[in-house]
Amino acid sequence: MRQHHGTTPRTPRVLGSLLLLAAAGAGTLGAAPEARAAAPAPLSRVVPAPASVTPGGTPYRITRATGIRVDASAEVRRVGTYLAGLLRPATGYPLPVTDHGTGGIRLHLADGDFGAEGYRLLSGAGGVTLTARTPAGLFHGVQTLRQLLPAAVERKTVQRGPWQIAGGTVRDRPRYAYRGAMLDVSRHFFTVAQVKRYIDQLALYKINELHLHLSDDQGWRIAIDSWPRLASYGGSTQVGGGPGGHYTKADYREIVRYAASRYLEVVPEIDMPGHTNAALASYARLDCDGVAPPLYTGTQVGFSSLCVPKAVTYDFVDDVVRELAALTPGRYLHIGGDEAHSTPHGDYVTFMDRVQPVVARYGKTVIGWHQLTGAHPAEGALAQYWGLDGTGAAEKAQVAEAARNGTGLILSPADRVYLDMKYTKDTGLGTRWAGLVEVRRSYDWNPGAYLSGVPASAVRGVEAPLWSETVKKSADIEYLAFPRLAGAAELGWSPAATHGWSGYKVRLAAQGPRWDALGIHYYRSPQVPWPAR
Ligand code: ACM
Repeated sequence: MRQHHGTTPRTPRVLGSLLLLAAAGAGTLGAAPEARAAAPAPLSRVVPAPASVTPGGTPYRITRATGIRVDASAEVRRVGTYLAGLLRPATGYPLPVTDHGTGGIRLHLADGDFGAEGYRLLSGAGGVTLTARTPAGLFHGVQTLRQLLPAAVERKTVQRGPWQIAGGTVRDRPRYAYRGAMLDVSRHFFTVAQVKRYIDQLALYKINELHLHLSDDQGWRIAIDSWPRLASYGGSTQVGGGPGGHYTKADYREIVRYAASRYLEVVPEIDMPGHTNAALASYARLDCDGVAPPLYTGTQVGFSSLCVPKAVTYDFVDDVVRELAALTPGRYLHIGGDEAHSTPHGDYVTFMDRVQPVVARYGKTVIGWHQLTGAHPAEGALAQYWGLDGTGAAEKAQVAEAARNGTGLILSPADRVYLDMKYTKDTGLGTRWAGLVEVRRSYDWNPGAYLSGVPASAVRGVEAPLWSETVKKSADIEYLAFPRLAGAAELGWSPAATHGWSGYKVRLAAQGPRWDALGIHYYRSPQVPWPAR
């Protein structure tokens, strides 16, 4: 973590003001660096790009006297308190959260054309007002407000201002309702604290779905009371043979609670019928031959399968889905379904026909990887497309046909938004089976017109998965996710009319100092015009 700003001696405030006055008076000598540094960021310098920006008028300056005024609603107050918590360390201001007074930063719910997650930000000399129909909209507006302030606002010690927000209006709402990120906690396990750190990073980019890949060959990561060895034994290792780990039910509830406080819904995945070695190793009776395989710590795929003809398989599925659904307030339960290379196709279809109704019985909507479209996707199910440019035409056509028949799609093309792909042959972490994916390639595609034959209305959103074969710690997550995650977030949130690499790379570059201030370890791609450190 780099903290040099925090330890640089600060110019005393009075002297700073005198310098500014001198610079302003210098006239023909041109703007002094201090004056330039003090100009607020343009309202459009936000990732994801807002739907509409109308600049104009006087900036608002946050001062020691600024209050955060909220509606008399517990949830709006919580968003206001979150905002105050973001701004207090670096500004050093008290920023009281109140439901009375005038001016300052106002968070307000009102009816209007905001949708479920949109907001309006109005900024002028007298204050900044965020208006939305829902607290989620206000929360997303807070992320915009945050990005309009200097990057130093992200530091944890008092920094020098001024803390200005440009004058004008931002009107914003998402293109897609589903804007996801997946973390594979199976190949390597990540603690609750590590997941929370990632959640906070996702929230900055208005991601609203956290997909947790909770089971795979290398580890089962969620406690299931009726099958306790899944976690205690099946979760006891990981890729490379480390100790692994699992979430207790209390841990998982804490992740769900924390995610909800950042307006993210948790989407749990139990990958079936393949990717199940950890379960098969834990209970011999799940295996067709009644013999449990050893735990697995390598990185091959496609060698394991639940035993489709055995009745106990469906007792297992029912118990797991019931317990996981009971822990999960979100709408979705992801049943995997990818790379079932050891499951005969007829068995695969039989299995999916039996399992999807179980998910519905426990009140959840099915998500499956797009191989589900080779079976019979249930009514309302979503398929997550993870193909690449080279995926065969027949497979793409099968996905498109399902989409035309009503299956919604989440787009996660592996050669665009798989965050575990290496950026270049020389960047160390990651894998490259889907190719090398630099920042521009990751951003430069249109989810609305990506798969031919798919009606635009079938596309429900974009998700950036991060598989963790090579990922062991938060710095690894961050190096692969940043900057590409920000691009996936923009593809999910911003209208297509705002997209464009030449504008995006400039807005993205402005995120670099923010990531430095937050201690986020990111890839300084040569494609992006980062400001000098
Ligand atoms: C996947 O990458 N096997 C979904």
